[in-house]
Amino acid sequence: MTRGKFISFEGGEGGGKTTQLNFLCDTLKSIDIDVIQTREPGGSKGAEEIRNLLVEGPPERWDAVTETLLHCAARRDHIKTTILPALEKGLWVLTDRFSDSTMAYQGYGHGVNKKALQNLQQFVAGTMQPDMTIILDLPVKIGLARAEKRATQQIKNNNGQEDRYERMGADFHERLRKGFLNIAKNNRKRCIIIDTTRSVEEIQSTIQRLVFKKFGLSEDG
Ligand code: TMP
Repeated sequence: MTRGKFISFEGGEGGGKTTQLNFLCDTLKSIDIDVIQTREPGGSKGAEEIRNLLVEGPPERWDAVTETLLHCAARRDHIKTTILPALEKGLWVLTDRFSDSTMAYQGYGHGVNKKALQNLQQFVAGTMQPDMTIILDLPVKIGLARAEKRATQQIKNNNGQEDRYERMGADFHERLRKGFLNIAKNNRKRCIIIDTTRSVEEIQSTIQRLVFKKFGLSEDG
């Protein structure tokens, strides 16, 4: 059985990760690739419970190290119960965020020691990492405005308010944007940066082209 491919979508708030992930998922299914869609924090029963602790409440709810450990605990459960079993069955796994988010948000954003984060990542995931990481990049001002609009909609729909990170301030978001760009620079083979100031359709076709090229796919499978 050939192991499936593992693709992560990354980036700051409001870059349209979820929309693009849905689109790629449908495209892969249309050429008969078996794919699952998942997210972090979350993606398994236990990790979804931890997610609620992380995305709700005031920004100062956790100190940066505690927050890091909660993300890592959630990731460990996600890998063990969702990601690895799927890859071993030959399924492709598309995840909305993975460990680069910890380096960007907790490392660059909150200033947690980057070497300690690398060691933790090794402890939690071993050498496992995505085959490809798509980083959706957007100026902070535009991203936060989009995220605010989404949060207002969530309140209207009574869907709970997952806005803890959106409320962390523009400086924090500038640092993590720089973090994602540095991560891409240091991992050129794995990461691609997508400028999301373009139209949704243009972004979709760029992502599809790059994924097809990377994995040797064509429109007829
Ligand atoms: P989401 O809004 O993309 O669903 O992600 C929830 C929040 O969690 C988002 O603001 C980024 C944050 N996050 C971290 O701070 N560190 C991490 O390791 C992950 C996976 C997410």
